[in-house]
Amino acid sequence: MRVGILTGGGDCPGLNAVIRAVVTKGERQYGDEVTGFRNGWAGVMEGDLMPLSAERCRDILPLGGTILGTSRANPYATEGGAQAVRATLQREAIDALIAIGGDDTLSVAGQLAAEGVTVLGVPKTIDNDLGVTELTFGFHTAVQTATEAIDRLRTTAESHHRVMVVEVMGRDTGWIATYAGIAGGATEILIPEEPFDIAAVAGRLRAHHGRDVSASIVVVAEGARPQGGEVITQTDQRDAFGHVRLGGISRLVADEIEARTGFETRLTVLGHVQRGGTPTAFDRVLATRFGIAAIDAVHDGHWGKATVLQANEIRLAPVTDLTGKAKLVDRDLYETVAGALVSSPG
Ligand code: F6P
Repeated sequence: MRVGILTGGGDCPGLNAVIRAVVTKGERQYGDEVTGFRNGWAGVMEGDLMPLSAERCRDILPLGGTILGTSRANPYATEGGAQAVRATLQREAIDALIAIGGDDTLSVAGQLAAEGVTVLGVPKTIDNDLGVTELTFGFHTAVQTATEAIDRLRTTAESHHRVMVVEVMGRDTGWIATYAGIAGGATEILIPEEPFDIAAVAGRLRAHHGRDVSASIVVVAEGARPQGGEVITQTDQRDAFGHVRLGGISRLVADEIEARTGFETRLTVLGHVQRGGTPTAFDRVLATRFGIAAIDAVHDGHWGKATVLQANEIRLAPVTDLTGKAKLVDRDLYETVAGALVSSPG
């Protein structure tokens, strides 16, 4: 078969591991010819191809990012975009297309599949907020990076008796904040699912510092907002899927904490550091399992499906089940586990 593959949306550690698994198993076991499309859906609309081979993919397993490049291009927001996708697939005689992406990329895949395109999906996002799959690769690496940053911030916070506010990614959900907050021993974890009361946050920090402690870590997800307030955005511009760029909530949180407690407070925005670098071993394994399952699903004709992780097994689910509704942070994890050790949840 001639199989096309693309990576769309924000990049994520583990993308290259999926590509390697698809290409290597496709070529060696099925005799497939796998062709990459550059820069997500843009490359399919424009017919921008990158021939792939097991040999080309031999050393990409530990590489962060994506050798194919990515973009947030949306064929359904582009004049004639969906027709251009179909025309390219026909012209290049692509029998099957594997779209690796998050909510946006997979929603396009779902729509194309409903219109008869032979496409299936592989979920990815560091935010870990796609429905049906218990985990997405990239999340584990982002949590590891954020936790290492928190560990570093703790030593300087303790030396200077400061509050350190750490802003992590998490547009709609606080998975990275919750995991990195628990792993890093944060005093407060502020997530999009639970609008926060800044007066209460300051009160808890005062009480915490009263207990023979003079430093605190406050982890805040970029999509967190105060009760009755709005998320903080960096610009009003929207991407092709209608998203604004978030960021800056840590400034508000840090200023309010310092003003209300008198504790010297500093902030760090981790930003894209969380998306870069080599994937952890866990993410390499999950991404590889998804890639293997995806090329098998191609040969079984599972159009409109996506690979998912459920009960530690790789299964297939309708791609539309993964999109449109963010998977929120597990209440038990936030309230019971984090709540027992940090002051914000519960
Ligand atoms: O892919 C998810 C994500 O990492 C979000 O957490 C974040 O809001 C967004 O991507 C940032 O996107 P960009 O790289 O376009 O700034």
